Amino acid sequence: MPAIASSAPGKAILFGEHAVVYGRPAIAIPVNQIQATAVAQPDLQGRSGDVWIDAPDIQLNAAYRDLPSDNPLALATRLTLQALGAAQTPACRIRITSTIPIASGLGSGAAISIAYIRTLSNFLGSPLSDETVSALAYEVEKIYHGTPSGIDNTVITYVQPVLFVRGQPIEILNVAKSFNLVIADTGVKSPTAVSVGDVRSAWLKDPSRYEDIFDAIGEIVRAARLKIEQGDIQAIGPLMDRNQALLANIGVSSPELEQLIQAAREAGAWGAKLSGGGRGGNLIALVDQARIENVTRALLASGATHVLANTVGANKR
Ligand code: PMV
Repeated sequence: MPAIASSAPGKAILFGEHAVVYGRPAIAIPVNQIQATAVAQPDLQGRSGDVWIDAPDIQLNAAYRDLPSDNPLALATRLTLQALGAAQTPACRIRITSTIPIASGLGSGAAISIAYIRTLSNFLGSPLSDETVSALAYEVEKIYHGTPSGIDNTVITYVQPVLFVRGQPIEILNVAKSFNLVIADTGVKSPTAVSVGDVRSAWLKDPSRYEDIFDAIGEIVRAARLKIEQGDIQAIGPLMDRNQALLANIGVSSPELEQLIQAAREAGAWGAKLSGGGRGGNLIALVDQARIENVTRALLASGATHVLANTVGANKR
């Protein structure tokens, strides 16, 4: 049996993080320059049903049965085998590697789950549908996030720009005109579960204030969707700035994020905001092609640990 491999990209949330957990829409895009990859090989020495997981980036090298039940990859294995109704499976070893930084708002956990679930089901000869892959990855996301909206597993499974509303069928966005983002890492690791949990506690204490802010974010997302679909790219920038101000209001920005966002704006970005759970991790800046270099330089000079440029391609049918 030959080796079987699959990869899944990172993602960035353009608009609507946090509010999306409370039923408002959000927009996300795949980030293809960074990928998680899982490669399965038959394990000729193994017993039927053994799945050995080797993930050097997270210092994991163990049989899935020996992992605690709340280990994300152990859960992904169990869910995949259940979905396939696979009782007797040939033994295999799966190696997972990833260039997506962990706990940085770029969807590393969901990408690893999706690459892994696809590789395991392909290895067992029964590729799962995108819908099932996304649903299983969502179950695993609950370990990382507590109450995930489902946006990460959705955009990473379908590898398309999406407008996502919790519990509703996804909408692929029609991007009328391509646009450029510069994505920069503060270098501060920030687990999403913590910021999502803090927002939940604050919402429980003052629901009406938080609901108003989430409504305002929802309006920004709807306006951004129109601009993206009309190809009015420059108009997306101020919407990013407004979304950022509301994210700062709910306490998920940080001094490092604010400093880099300011640097990007001063270097000519049309708009900038944090992306993902916040408190650290990555920010995104919307830039004209001619300014990518300038903004990248400014971000690195202001302390960004990694910067990558991403083009969201036009796909209007
Ligand atoms: O930090 P990330 O990239 O996993 O983004 C999570 C986005 C949130 O809206 C904060 C949480 C969610 O589940 O949607």
